[in-house]
Amino acid sequence: MKSITSYTSEAFVIQGGKPLKGRVKVSGSKNASLPIIMASLLPREVSIIENVPDLLDTLTAFELIKSLGASVDFQNGVATIDARYLRDYKAPDEMVRRMRASVLVMGPLLAKFGKAVVSMPGGCSIGVRSIDQHLKVFEKGGANIEVKHGYIHLQVDKIKPVEHTFEVITVTGTENALMFLSGCERRSLLRNIALEPEVMDLVDVLKKMGVEIEIEDRTAVIRGSSELKSFKHTVIPDRIEAGTLMVAGFLTGGEVVLENTRVEHLGSVIEKLREAGAQVELLSLNSLRVKRDGDIKPLVISTAEYPGFPTDMQAQFMVLCCLAKGVSEIRENIFENRFQHVAELQRMGANIHVRDRTAIVKGVEKLSGAEVYSTDLRASASLVLAGLVAEGTTTVRDIHHLDRGYEKLEEKLRSLGATIERLPRREG
Ligand code: EPZ
Repeated sequence: MKSITSYTSEAFVIQGGKPLKGRVKVSGSKNASLPIIMASLLPREVSIIENVPDLLDTLTAFELIKSLGASVDFQNGVATIDARYLRDYKAPDEMVRRMRASVLVMGPLLAKFGKAVVSMPGGCSIGVRSIDQHLKVFEKGGANIEVKHGYIHLQVDKIKPVEHTFEVITVTGTENALMFLSGCERRSLLRNIALEPEVMDLVDVLKKMGVEIEIEDRTAVIRGSSELKSFKHTVIPDRIEAGTLMVAGFLTGGEVVLENTRVEHLGSVIEKLREAGAQVELLSLNSLRVKRDGDIKPLVISTAEYPGFPTDMQAQFMVLCCLAKGVSEIRENIFENRFQHVAELQRMGANIHVRDRTAIVKGVEKLSGAEVYSTDLRASASLVLAGLVAEGTTTVRDIHHLDRGYEKLEEKLRSLGATIERLPRREG
């Protein structure tokens, strides 16, 4: 298992202008793996998770559950997790700051131990990202919650059945609630839940453990158990990596075949790509071909909860809009500050104006290579995409942001013909 330090490389250097051609396999989903790794704390036995991507966030999740006493063996995408001898229930600040999804440890620890101490996640570059909805469910389930010295102290004797309507649709809020209520043997009801494929993958795992979950529209009825069984599960493919690779193939004027993907999870992304002028041919339930066919057409994009257009694809599509023949409008409805990539794209010659949560993008003839800085995971992906199509050389710095959520991205892009090198971390 690679150590975290082997990931903190510094930059990608990209020569633009090469059309990407060939076949590429999509890795397992980061955002499905993270809750499932936390859920592996629930059974008192050994569980096996397959198709886990080897990237910074999953390694951090393994480090976190190991710090609680679980043992983890992670080889070739397969994680064998033994949660029989947990001895702690604290997620330290350093861990939560490194990965805010560490808050997903609250649900399982409360269900298993009735206790959790988790550092209050700070804000991040894309928004405040409060967890009030997570805490409301825990409170309704009987948990006593205190915030002291930056830590949330949660404690519950016997989890009570809950009836809760989420005030906002929250992916990890839904996931935390489902794992928490897996420890309650009476039926609970959750309304206005998130329906992302990653949430449904966790639901599949909880059902394998013996949790009863029925979902209709955005309502879930869930009945847990005191004896949750171990499970074996293959994580779904990463739909955001797939979308990013599709944009790369279309943007560079190439022809790319994606394998090991789930076409059914990509509906809104395929729709938008076709609107932009891409040829997207479905080859099977797990593979598709993307081809450029003429100019890039301008778009109107409004991000929404699944099955709407994913906020995690907004930055990548903005690069398409930068080179479209016309004016595009991108509205970011999920996070209040997810336009960090705009300033960096402007350094490459993009013509973008942001007002509140809307970006107006006027297409330009070309982007020019520059030295740009990543600010968050998907922004860094958009800068790599821009570098692939810009004139000249682009250096994308602080690439550790990208390493959090993309497995071997430069190797995948190189296999499709891109000229992209990873600059080693400068010591000292
Ligand atoms: C998940 O984050 C994903 N992360 C994010 O992916 C993704 O962008 C996001 O869902 C939206 O799809 C993981 O799954 C690990 P939310 P999450 O709770 O769960 C507000 C990536 O690039 N909200 O659905 O943190 C919140 O502020 C990452 O892989 C509350 O107000 O997002 C936001 O505006 C980035 N109170 C909105 O809801 C709460 O208690 C949606 O947030 C919870 C959320």
